[in-house]
Amino acid sequence: MCGIVGFTKKKYRSACCLEVLLNGLENLEYRGYDSAGIAVSDMEHQELKLCRAVGRISNLRRVVEEEKPEGSCGIGHTRWATHGKPSVENCHPHLAEKKTVAVVHNGIIENYQALKLQLQKEGVHFASQTDTEVVAQLLEKQYCGDMKKTLERVLPQLEGSFALAILDRNQPDTIYCARRRSPLLLAKGEDGAYLASDISALLDYTRDVWYIDEDSIAVLTPEEIMFWKDGEQQFPQSVHINWDSSAARKNGFDHFMLKEIFDQPTALRDTLNHYVDVEKGIIRRETMPFTMEQAKALKRLTIAACGTAYHAAVMGQSLLEQVAGVPAMAAVASEYRYSTMPPMEGEVFMAVSQSGETADTLAALTHKKAQGLRCLALSNVIGSTIAREADHVMYTLAGPEIAVASTKAYLTQVLLFEILALDLANLRGVLSDEELKVRIAELAQLPEQVEAILASKKTVEDFVQTQKNCHDIFFIGRLMDYASSLEAALKLKEISYLHSEAYAAGELKHGTIALVDESCLVVVTATQSVVLEKTLANMEEVRARGAELLLLGHFPVDHPHDCTVWNIPACSDQLAPILTTVYAQLFAYYMAKMHGCDIDKPRNLAKSVTVE
Ligand code: AGP
Repeated sequence: MCGIVGFTKKKYRSACCLEVLLNGLENLEYRGYDSAGIAVSDMEHQELKLCRAVGRISNLRRVVEEEKPEGSCGIGHTRWATHGKPSVENCHPHLAEKKTVAVVHNGIIENYQALKLQLQKEGVHFASQTDTEVVAQLLEKQYCGDMKKTLERVLPQLEGSFALAILDRNQPDTIYCARRRSPLLLAKGEDGAYLASDISALLDYTRDVWYIDEDSIAVLTPEEIMFWKDGEQQFPQSVHINWDSSAARKNGFDHFMLKEIFDQPTALRDTLNHYVDVEKGIIRRETMPFTMEQAKALKRLTIAACGTAYHAAVMGQSLLEQVAGVPAMAAVASEYRYSTMPPMEGEVFMAVSQSGETADTLAALTHKKAQGLRCLALSNVIGSTIAREADHVMYTLAGPEIAVASTKAYLTQVLLFEILALDLANLRGVLSDEELKVRIAELAQLPEQVEAILASKKTVEDFVQTQKNCHDIFFIGRLMDYASSLEAALKLKEISYLHSEAYAAGELKHGTIALVDESCLVVVTATQSVVLEKTLANMEEVRARGAELLLLGHFPVDHPHDCTVWNIPACSDQLAPILTTVYAQLFAYYMAKMHGCDIDKPRNLAKSVTVE
């Protein structure tokens, strides 16, 4: 989705403002966009200069090279069209009619039509179809000689969500910001002050950032950043982000997705070591969200998330029930945010989100918080909105995930559910300390087991070459294998655009089996011993309809199943779905590559969905 960057440079520093803006926008490309633009304050001519282009940042670079705007303070934006088609006119930044104000915006101004109509009645002419332009026009129209005061007057008139960065022609070294339900972070570096909607844009310059509070204003000059809320100056603490900028590069891999699949052993190790003392075989108490008393009082954990994070939640639901005996419910956040169910005594809510910014997940959390529930979050991004809103956060230590298709975030989310389930089981007295040690020793083997699967990537690649004509793929499994099948099908469809569906293996014959014929590939995941024979029987049902079969699990070399088998290393039933997922990720990746798809930036998708 849309991305914002901004920079105001100190005098006599060598940094080039245009380069910081363009580099920042390039680092935000992974979020998905269709056009991009920048605005700089040209001090000498006292004007705001715009450069905008449809398509890639390379197109914008060309425009910048041709027009050579000058300035040491500017804002930039990558746009993912919502109101108005991708075009230069609709591209951000937007200038107000008299060109005194330039605005970039993430989010949606829900009442923009009413505001636009009113402004048009007052004689204002609009140049775009966007909701954002009303903000620029309102700021210019209601300008009182002080942009902060003007913003304080304009913000209450806006409904919806926004992260705004604003240039005022009268103050060519200053950037004004404001936010409501859309992320925005600020930072000071040696060369000046920065802002961005996402830390990835700033990793080349700094690691210490400030988050702006909901409905707050920030004012950036080259030397300082000031924060204001309800007319009062605020002094928030900065947050240190421990990410390495090289982690946000491809490091020799063809795609971020493949690199991130190969990052998984490290991501699992880092996450595990943060929460668990592997040598002692204990969970680090201070990292866990429940005390013994709270664990015993827990009656239900409701988990809301979207997309891949939802699939991790489904996995979490099984783990919490099986391992800890805690009733759990995974819910799709876009539906759950409208749930009218009253909170239950002993219920705790959890939001799962890699980015920590997904609008529906945030709304579900806000809804539950308003009902008075204790709210936990599981996120990969320190200081993200969901992390800040929650009462307790468990961070996955996966590092920056750039590819739109989530891989390492998912695996570490499932690992955290494994750890949480073990901890709750131990605290509730259903798992002894000795048993816990054994389970932790199993967890500690996961990184190496994932490495072993990654080492067999050629097997996956070769199999994919035999699937050139395959356009319908079904993923079936039971219990946790069904949960991992949901993720396998999503991974494949989002990057290869092939039709893929996940079904609980026993459910197939209640309708969908009508679609199965010799043109289909059916991927059967069978790792759950309690239902193994039943899953294999379901496999025979699709074989009988002529489908080609691929079987994932642990099977002896001389297995009797007449089909391709990809084996995972020996492990418990609860950990097996983590390992089969790695095969599914590689399978999706090579299928998409064979079909020549834009793997890191699949069509129509955005990394972080910050609108409803
Ligand atoms: C993952 O491959 C997807 N692109 C998408 O489903 C994603 O998981 C979803 O939008 C939720 O994102 P979040 O984890 O950042 O909240």
